[in-house]
Amino acid sequence: MREIARRLLGEEKARRVWKRIDVVGDIAIMKMPIHGEISIEEMQLLAEEVLRALPSVNSVWLAGGPVEGRFKTRKSLIHLAGERRTETVYREHGCEFKVDIARVFITPRLSFEHLRIARLVEPGEVVVNMFAGVGIFSILIARKSRAALVYSIDVNPEAYRLMVENVRINRVEDRVIPILGDAASVVSSRLQGVGTRVLMPLPDLSLDYIPYALRALRGEGWIHVYLHLSHEKRKSHLEKAEKLVDEMVRKEGWRIVESKSREVRSVGPRLVQVVVDALVSR
Ligand SMILES: C[S@@+](CC[C@H](N)C(=O)[O-])C[C@H]1O[C@@H](n2cnc3c(N)ncnc32)[C@H](O)[C@@H]1O
Repeated sequence: MREIARRLLGEEKARRVWKRIDVVGDIAIMKMPIHGEISIEEMQLLAEEVLRALPSVNSVWLAGGPVEGRFKTRKSLIHLAGERRTETVYREHGCEFKVDIARVFITPRLSFEHLRIARLVEPGEVVVNMFAGVGIFSILIARKSRAALVYSIDVNPEAYRLMVENVRINRVEDRVIPILGDAASVVSSRLQGVGTRVLMPLPDLSLDYIPYALRALRGEGWIHVYLHLSHEKRKSHLEKAEKLVDEMVRKEGWRIVESKSREVRSVGPRLVQVVVDALVSR
């Protein structure tokens, strides 16, 4: 992006443009420049150039801020160039996902993590994905492992609708069960003691929902807890993440048998997403 911006707007303004853009299917999403000193008209110029430079992109949008709200969606999207469309087909690790960048959570920056988790799943496992979005973790698990079943929960009706379609498109109807609802209520009412592994890919709620994740397990199993923490020297944020999960697990009368953690991605200035993989036992 910087190179394009340098050519069209000059060195000074180019420094305010974010280096990277997210490409989801055939839609490119640019981020609002730092300090907002570039006009929408100038962003449109850049977007037209993105369309020319990336032949697979047909639509360019500007995201006014981070994802927000209960459904973690992009609220302030401004159309910059190309087709005025927010639906697209996103491809990851050989699977196809229908998405809508305005109405559901979607980022290409979890791609490595999706596959990493799918590769951990052992034959015959039953997985509960508490915050499934359009079903990327769930469907990749079904396609890349020999899991017996994946319960795939989301509270956003649009994410649920797309998840149902994605399950069909990727032909995993026999192994992925989409469920619309709040993960805590769904686990309490119908998924107690069913699972060997629980995914919690929603940092806002993951610690608070650990009691429900434990309830979904058969007495022992893996939980994958995603958190946002400020980046600290010597990776002490990873230790902190494991400690937070440990405290919550103990509070419920369970214990951690084995745990490890890793940085998933950067999510803001000095803020990182971390995942704790913990084998827990009652
Ligand atoms: C960060 S997104 C999940 C992303 C998805 N796992 C992926 O990799 O693309 C979090 C999701 O949790 C859903 N959500 C929020 N609160 C929830 C709740 N109480 N129960 C179930 N799903 C919830 C949101 O609608 C959103 O789709």
